[in-house]
Amino acid sequence: MIELVNKRVLLGVSGSIAAYKSAELVRLLRKQGAEVRVVMTATATEFIQPLTFQALSGNIVYSAWDDADRGDGMGHIELARWADAIVIAPASADLLARLRQGMANDLLTTLCLASNGTIAVAPAMNRLMWDNAATKENMEVLRQRGIHILGPGTGGQACGETGLGRMLEPEQLVQGISGLFTSGILSGTKLLLTAGPTREPIDAMRFLSNRSSGKMGYALAQAAIEAGADVTLISGPVALTPPERAKRLDVNSANEMYEAVMSEISANDVFISAAAVADYRPANPSKEKVKRKDDNVDLALTQNRDIVASVAALANKPFTVGFAAETSDIEKHAMSKLKRKGLDLIAANQVGDGQGAEVDDNAMTLYWADGCQHLEKTTKSKLARQMVAIIGEHYRAAT
Ligand code: CTP
Repeated sequence: MIELVNKRVLLGVSGSIAAYKSAELVRLLRKQGAEVRVVMTATATEFIQPLTFQALSGNIVYSAWDDADRGDGMGHIELARWADAIVIAPASADLLARLRQGMANDLLTTLCLASNGTIAVAPAMNRLMWDNAATKENMEVLRQRGIHILGPGTGGQACGETGLGRMLEPEQLVQGISGLFTSGILSGTKLLLTAGPTREPIDAMRFLSNRSSGKMGYALAQAAIEAGADVTLISGPVALTPPERAKRLDVNSANEMYEAVMSEISANDVFISAAAVADYRPANPSKEKVKRKDDNVDLALTQNRDIVASVAALANKPFTVGFAAETSDIEKHAMSKLKRKGLDLIAANQVGDGQGAEVDDNAMTLYWADGCQHLEKTTKSKLARQMVAIIGEHYRAAT
């Protein structure tokens, strides 16, 4: 299973009788080429010895608070960063409730909170606990946050009952975990993306720009790569490192961005316009630094071309996604931009009052001609993965 080769899986084991099956899971994951580190809750250690996991994973097992800060130089933040995916199997009802609440009262939940990467849970509990309204609500919230849910399965339970709630078998979990690394919805597609602000020169030293950090666009580039796309990122000036596998072209002004997009676009299937493109530029930028005068000055502005609308107007247009950053009446403005610019999909969010640009968390609503989907506030990287999944579905449905 090529998807698991060299992948770093942080396996969280919580308190359930199914914990014994996770020993086999570690063995199978390693057999497929994954590196595995195990974190156990205190209750889990009552079901199975850490030593078992240590022997099978070839690594220290973490359980107590300070375990992550001992010996191998992996503090708990490093441990969260180390993981390509955190997989909690078994995930008890209690663990899922704590995860939903964002609690950090043991090492495992702390690691989940400190991670902006992929998290998956494999629930394991009695069928009535699984069917309980509280658990159902917890699962729904976790699903909306982008947490992957593997199972549960149905069948005989340790308590003697039969029904839904059993942890999936280790072989099924390995399949599910490998699926985390191959959402593949954009496999074989070429995707062009703009990100960041533009700078519109006033003179040799000064420019007009905006608050865009480029984080959302860069997170989308990363998520699109993870989903299998071949990504070209046309970026305004930002202080971010591009994803390793993206081709990046740097531009400054809206005009440069327009030219770069137009020369690249024909090769692409999907275009995402995440850049905060300036609508206007100074009409007569000076090559020299303008000297101060003892008077007010007027700055004449001229309109920039609308890049995303120009792409959407092409005869052979790609699947085109725009953004709408609004301070009020989000739905109204977003729907009008969708139509006016000829977009297939638009991602709208509230800006101002500390929301939108320059922040790490964001909420978003995606609109298309006859529907919409709201994405709850979360990190930009999680939001990006959810957006790419929706963009991918719509792109596939349209082609
Ligand atoms: N956009 C673009 N070229 C421009 C201006 C905007 O491609 N010259 C794109 C942005 O990348 C974004 C979408 O258009 O995907 C909407 O940008 P926004 O600034 O919200 O829309 P405007 O058309 O500028 O409308 P307004 O500023 O009036 O809200």
